Amino acid sequence: MSGNSILNNAKYSADTDEWYTTYETIAEELAHYEDQFKGKTVLCNCDDPFESNFSYYFMRNFNRLRIKKLICTSYSASRIDSIKDNVQLTLPIIDENGDPLTSMNGFVLEISKMPGTESEEISDETIQQVLRKKGRVKKLKGNGDFRSDECLEYLKKSDICCTNPPFSLFAELFSLLIKYEKQFLLIGNQNAITYKEIFPYIKENKAWVGYHFGDMAFRVPNDTEPRKTRFWIDDKGQKWRSLGNAMWLTNLDIPKRHQELELTQTYDEETYPKYDNYNAINVSRVANIPMDYDGIMGVPITFLKYHNGFQFEIIGEANHGSDNEFDLFKPKINGKEQFKRILIRRIKHEVKNHGL
Ligand SMILES: C[S@@+](CC[C@H](N)C(=O)[O-])C[C@H]1O[C@@H](n2cnc3c(N)ncnc32)[C@H](O)[C@@H]1O
Repeated sequence: MSGNSILNNAKYSADTDEWYTTYETIAEELAHYEDQFKGKTVLCNCDDPFESNFSYYFMRNFNRLRIKKLICTSYSASRIDSIKDNVQLTLPIIDENGDPLTSMNGFVLEISKMPGTESEEISDETIQQVLRKKGRVKKLKGNGDFRSDECLEYLKKSDICCTNPPFSLFAELFSLLIKYEKQFLLIGNQNAITYKEIFPYIKENKAWVGYHFGDMAFRVPNDTEPRKTRFWIDDKGQKWRSLGNAMWLTNLDIPKRHQELELTQTYDEETYPKYDNYNAINVSRVANIPMDYDGIMGVPITFLKYHNGFQFEIIGEANHGSDNEFDLFKPKINGKEQFKRILIRRIKHEVKNHGL
């Protein structure tokens, strides 16, 4: 790994690797993709089946979504102390050899059938029973690193990977999913958009941001140091942190990527100054994108929330001018540095056709 990924890893490593997703965050996003899980093998590969709300969501909705198989693998160093919103499970649970599972191991949970009827959500009690069944959750040989050979075997036999991975390993997981041609729905930091491993796929409309784009709250381990901002302790003593620039990144098709962004503004030189060092205009807000400018425009990263590859093409990014081959310049106007921008150009069509 090189370039901006290393810098970003250094910045986010440890700090955000043990941030745990709430059930609501998952359920709200997944509501947009429900019919895409039918008959699919779903992999949650940074997810302790006793702790993760991703595991819990897919167990609970296994029949309703008509999932073929659920595989969850956990990492031995995973360390959230309090569990999901509703289910409280405490180790030890017995593995297939009658040995207690301990948190020293990586685990794997594989489910091909859940009790109950097709349309039904599965109760917490049933989920507990399933998890407690001897041998249901097995010890992995190694520590459950998603890059390990045994975890890669699970990845190879899955269809959709759905998780919130450690942000420091986000690009590595993304690259593996591309390599093995998997579908994915991942939580990440918006900074990952401009990583050299990821941006080319966004540019080519092979990956896009999901629905929720912005603030997200996460449970964090008990030993998390308090901070002045974006940190709180709830009335049960659970510590929380939040991230202002979280996102979902996916290659599952969603209606919003086929909707056109409505443009209301028209171009004029004063409102849309050109950069000092590149032939493109600066657009301060997504709502201000002019409807009649045919050249390259630098737009805020939030543009990706509305991007329709039939309406605009993504030319590159303007960040430091050196992060990767798509980082074309460091945006400046009259010598003053500007925020990082996505560079886009309007696509002119003779005939409207939204079937991307
Ligand atoms: C950001 S937390 C999210 C946990 C869970 N997916 C969720 O959304 O609540 C990332 C998780 O990945 C685990 N992890 C760290 N390194 C890992 C690795 N190399 N392979 C698999 N999991 C890892 C962490 O211990 C942690 O449990």
